[in-house]
Amino acid sequence: MSKIDVLVTGGTGNVGSQALKSLLSNKGLKVRALVRNPAKAQWIADLGGELVEGDLDDAAAVSRAMVGVKTLALITPSSAHAAALAGKVIVIAKQAGVEKIVRLSAIKAAEDGPTDNTRQHGITERAIRESGMRYVFLRPSYFMQNLLGSMGSIVGEGKLYAGMGDGAVALIDTRDVGDALAAAVLTDKFDGSALELSGPRSIGHSEIATAIGKTLGRNVTYVAVPPEAAGEAVRAFGLDDWTVQIIIDYSRAYAKGFGDFVTDAVASLTGQTPRDIETFAREVISPAVKSMAPAQQVA
Ligand SMILES: NC(=O)c1ccc[n+]([C@@H]2O[C@H](COP(=O)([O-])OP(=O)(O)OC[C@H]3O[C@@H](n4cnc5c(N)ncnc54)[C@H](OP(=O)(O)O)[C@@H]3O)[C@@H](O)[C@H]2O)c1
Repeated sequence: MSKIDVLVTGGTGNVGSQALKSLLSNKGLKVRALVRNPAKAQWIADLGGELVEGDLDDAAAVSRAMVGVKTLALITPSSAHAAALAGKVIVIAKQAGVEKIVRLSAIKAAEDGPTDNTRQHGITERAIRESGMRYVFLRPSYFMQNLLGSMGSIVGEGKLYAGMGDGAVALIDTRDVGDALAAAVLTDKFDGSALELSGPRSIGHSEIATAIGKTLGRNVTYVAVPPEAAGEAVRAFGLDDWTVQIIIDYSRAYAKGFGDFVTDAVASLTGQTPRDIETFAREVISPAVKSMAPAQQVA
């Protein structure tokens, strides 16, 4: 049976979709994706990837997806159960003979970190280390794509609300994270490393708001709110208690400089300078605004 070079989980998400596009641009590479909804993932098959339908929580489906796989690119959604879910997948990968795991982790993952997401990623990293499989841990900073959740206030009021005070963060475009993940699959050079992935500059939310405003040709100002208010704002969008607490805890940490550092890890992996906030505003925010219904665009 021919080997599958890489199995990607979470391939329809922010990072996974870019990682798959990058991997599938390599002619001859055998790429498989475990997806919950094949209709949503048809583009992966169109690019030459193989789809296996199933949920990460379904051991039989995960076992099916793991057959013949050399490298697992393991992306799991953020949740209160992420470490438990990832732990089961790691056991199945080991049993199936997977040789290497490239794990999408999170900034400063550690079992004693300041947020439960940080801690859960720390637990998962330990499980991978203890499995004996080769590994690369990619620990990205705050995603620029998180800003898409603020489109309503940016467009409707010219305001960017956040709970991080004046804390600077080297936020990163998920397209760079996806490219870095693909690169870590394709080379052995970084095996055994935990790499903190940052964007090119560490900046505060005032500068982020200014960059977005310049691109949109209007004034956008940053409004600092207490971390608790930032958490409650996402509750209004229907997110659960765990996520609300994560937003509060990350906001507090970032306000104190948790993300205020720049690394050259993306360039080392991909050979490309990571995208800056101006590029993100031009290539992602601006088209998103144009696709909004006119009624949402009145200032
Ligand atoms: N947001 C940040 O600032 C940040 C920063 C650093 C690290 N991270 C980490 O990044 C990871 C999330 O990456 P992302 O933003 O690319 O993900 P995402 O856009 O939220 O997408 C989640 C992916 O996981 C899939 N998925 C969800 N539940 C599943 C299940 N039960 N079985 C199978 N597939 C499932 C989704 O599939 P469907 O399409 O079927 O829903 C989707 O492909 C998390 O581990 C998070 O901690 C986030």
